[in-house]
Amino acid sequence: MPVGTQATVKGLTIDQVRATGAHMILGNTYHLALRPGHETVRKLGGLHGMTGWDGPILTDSGGFQIFSLDAINDISEEAATFRSHLDGAVIRLTPEHSIEIQESLGSDVAMVLDHVVALPAERDLVQDAMERSIRWAGRCLNAATREDQAKFAIVQGGLDVELRTQCARELASMDFQGYAVGGLSVGEAPSEMYRITAATCPELPEDKPRYLMGVGRPIDLLESVARGIDLFDCVMPTRNGRNGLAFTDGGSLKFKNAIHREDNRPIDETCPCLACKHSRGYLRHLFNAKEMLGPILLSIHNLTYYQTIMQGARAAIERGEFDAYLAEKKRGWGEVAS
Ligand code: GUN
Ligand code: ZN
Repeated sequence: MPVGTQATVKGLTIDQVRATGAHMILGNTYHLALRPGHETVRKLGGLHGMTGWDGPILTDSGGFQIFSLDAINDISEEAATFRSHLDGAVIRLTPEHSIEIQESLGSDVAMVLDHVVALPAERDLVQDAMERSIRWAGRCLNAATREDQAKFAIVQGGLDVELRTQCARELASMDFQGYAVGGLSVGEAPSEMYRITAATCPELPEDKPRYLMGVGRPIDLLESVARGIDLFDCVMPTRNGRNGLAFTDGGSLKFKNAIHREDNRPIDETCPCLACKHSRGYLRHLFNAKEMLGPILLSIHNLTYYQTIMQGARAAIERGEFDAYLAEKKRGWGEVAS
């Protein structure tokens, strides 16, 4: 899922997002509840009406944004209390309120409100947050009023396999339509993330989607698919694109670099995207001159690249050749085979 935090995939029109091959996009409860406010979004036709996106939309619950923007004031059993990054106002978010907001936003998938802790942390703290996340997941399920919105639970438990499997089992016994693995990609080594993903997936229902939140690099996506993940969201393709970095099968290219100045080749001859109709030299010029088309074109290319590798993964799985596909991609990216 391309990330559209503020009801826009930054810099792109909905037609451009669709042309990257994306099926589903993500929005954020936290940002949209603060601005323009969920009632305003509802009056403007919900996220689908506002954006014109007619495919599925998933909204995150706010838990992680509060955590990652360092806005948390206090977490009690009842609610998370935090300060708005816009005006400093103190806001209380309960699991019930998060669901009410997401139902107003009109997303197709709502995430439960969870308690994310910074790592490394004491086991007691990780366990406490994990257990609270399970209770909050139950409250979210009870608060749901819309039959047309799926609810996804989020497994927490830090880097502790025992806590993760316990959390996954308890959530799996509840009636969610999908399951996410959260609390990862927060600074731990990729091998740690893979270890936790590998231990968690087998505990989740086989017939429901599994979503790894906030991940990641192209290699992280494929390594996680190998461990049982189906769905991802990440700002990397768009954020890195805005910063002049393009992902390719041969690794990444930095367009602020003078090496591309007179290079007539496209980023990737086989890529169908708009950016790849231009030369590397032109793209480099756009970044050098700080023209807005540069970030737009590289966002389009990177989103197309991410969709292409996932499309390739689906095709390889159907052929029963995923391992070979992963090994080939890793060779191209300069990653040692493992
Ligand atoms: N996005 C990335 N990680 C997380 C997480 O652990 N929880 C939530 N709610 N969103 C996330
Ligand atoms: Zn391209």
